[in-house]
Amino acid sequence: MRNLIENHVEDFAEILRYDKSNWDDFWKSLKKRFFPILNNIEKKVGKISFEKEERRNLDRFVQEFRKILKMKKEKITEKIRKNSKEFELSKEDFIIFIAFVPNDFDWIVVRGNRENILFLNVYSLWKKGFLEKLEDAVYQSVIHYRHGEEKGNFYDKETLFDKLYDQILSLDKSEIRKFMKGICELLYNNVPYYDWVGFYMLNSKNLLELWEFVGEPTEHTEIPVGKGICGQAAKKKAIFVVQDVSKETNYLSCSPKVKSEIVVPIFKNGQILGELDVDSHFIAPFDERDKNFLEKICLKISKIYE
Ligand code: SME
Repeated sequence: MRNLIENHVEDFAEILRYDKSNWDDFWKSLKKRFFPILNNIEKKVGKISFEKEERRNLDRFVQEFRKILKMKKEKITEKIRKNSKEFELSKEDFIIFIAFVPNDFDWIVVRGNRENILFLNVYSLWKKGFLEKLEDAVYQSVIHYRHGEEKGNFYDKETLFDKLYDQILSLDKSEIRKFMKGICELLYNNVPYYDWVGFYMLNSKNLLELWEFVGEPTEHTEIPVGKGICGQAAKKKAIFVVQDVSKETNYLSCSPKVKSEIVVPIFKNGQILGELDVDSHFIAPFDERDKNFLEKICLKISKIYE
């Protein structure tokens, strides 16, 4: 399989061998060496200059990056390779270029000589305290790139989910449907890849009935147990994650934009009460953290029924 990730941090770190008065010359020579990538970056974000950077900072960053890379080298590619089919990696239309510039974008897509370059700016990640999350940042930039985005900043799922859970706890719980609506709104508005969020609850006809939701209206307002991803989750009494819905045969489509889905059951005394359903326009965006977070929310709902 082709080399998906190119680490160029050491090429860029050569700047530290130069006197600061020559840093701009170094940058110019680097631009020639990595033509047209760095030129195209400047076209997108404006002229780049290392002048304002402190040598001390750059030095510390490079040392810390080396340490992190030693620990994470394997992990960085592992997660992407695991989803290589979903990401159509064989198409060879992009490579991930790990390097650094003194600008605060975390990743940006520019044209290279042959393919698109997904430039991951590890200096910006370091300054924000996210270098430890390198493999996460690489993965996130790929799912956003595949979603058609050209530029973005890393968001830390742990922090985001903790913050949202606190906000959920402070919502009014006196009316269950109002509480559910509040949850849908919070998730939909704050998790970049949650594009439809809704609750299905089992009714007296043993059908999953759509209660509160945020996102495009759906025709699937009553789903039999066993049907679709929602029905399968109810039947198996288990969390269902489908990272690419086009590969799932037992699936009820709500919109062609939906690429993946996660369904988490709400239990009471071991019986299914209903479920929380999240659709995403991204391929393969969900992981254990989404499962745990959504499961915690469902537990909160089931407590209200006790
Ligand atoms: N896709 C679901 C149907 C519900 S919608 O996602 C809102 C399924 O296959 O069960």
